[in-house]
Amino acid sequence: MKRNQSSLTAEGIAMARALESSKPAGERVCYDPYARQFVSSWLWILGKATMGYATRRSPGVLEFLAARTRFIDDYLQCGIADGIQQLVILGAGFDTRAYRFERLRGHAKVFEVDHPATQRVKIAKLEKILGNLPSDVTFVPIDFRSETLDKLFARGYDKRLKTLIIWEGVTMYLAADAVDATLAFVAGNSGAGSSIVFDYIYRAALDGTMKENEVKSMQRWRGVTGEGLSFGIARGRIEEFLAQRGFENIVNADSDALKKAYFAGANQKARVVAPVYAIVHATVR
Ligand SMILES: C[S@@+](CC[C@H](N)C(=O)[O-])C[C@H]1O[C@@H](n2cnc3c(N)ncnc32)[C@H](O)[C@@H]1O
Repeated sequence: MKRNQSSLTAEGIAMARALESSKPAGERVCYDPYARQFVSSWLWILGKATMGYATRRSPGVLEFLAARTRFIDDYLQCGIADGIQQLVILGAGFDTRAYRFERLRGHAKVFEVDHPATQRVKIAKLEKILGNLPSDVTFVPIDFRSETLDKLFARGYDKRLKTLIIWEGVTMYLAADAVDATLAFVAGNSGAGSSIVFDYIYRAALDGTMKENEVKSMQRWRGVTGEGLSFGIARGRIEEFLAQRGFENIVNADSDALKKAYFAGANQKARVVAPVYAIVHATVR
């Protein structure tokens, strides 16, 4: 992403969550009451005006975004019930889980890690929305291109604690060595029962084997957003990929699994979930 520019993709994703959250309770897949407040007026107007075209051109992307937020929310809910002591949100963008999940309060330390330019904008918006920042959330500005997660230690991260790491909508923008470095940090620096949840794009979507308009648009706009897609994992290889990096109990959900899990009943109008992405939860071995 661009050095001094807050992430445009993070704002676009907040917009997708805001749109999903505006649906009636029985029809929405995820719910984030704060999401709309992170979207600038110009993006909201532009996004609404071009939504029909974008969804015809790239069907299933909004459905994937809603489903991945819900998948992660479900794992966070389970993690809280299982007694996680730390939550680390990597590339947090305008993720509001630290403020939506009341049961984290007093039970788990929360770390939000993000590029300094995005984090500055988020903190200013949170101060407006919440009045003041919760004392149990620690903001850690990191540029993954030049810094490592070791910075967490100086901010109170405890490697002995049971931790859930959320990495939503980030891996595809990173270099392969940055992805490996993050997974190595998690595998080597977290307590028993710790786990990670993240989504990824199939490598075939990046090398052109799988043709997808969504990918073409993201690449076309990379000059504006500074966030081009660069890292993918081969379809069907996630178990091997994570096992080699110190993880087990790997639960992968592809587009079919997400559709089956979340688009039933009133949601069945959504016929497709974008086929180029998947999401996975894995435990540190
Ligand atoms: C697509 S957004 C996802 C935001 C959030 N996780 C969500 O799902 O709403 C990508 C996030 O990765 C962060 N990011 C991208 N490149 C980064 C880098 N080099 N260092 C740190 N964060 C980065 C951006 O600031 C942004 O918050």
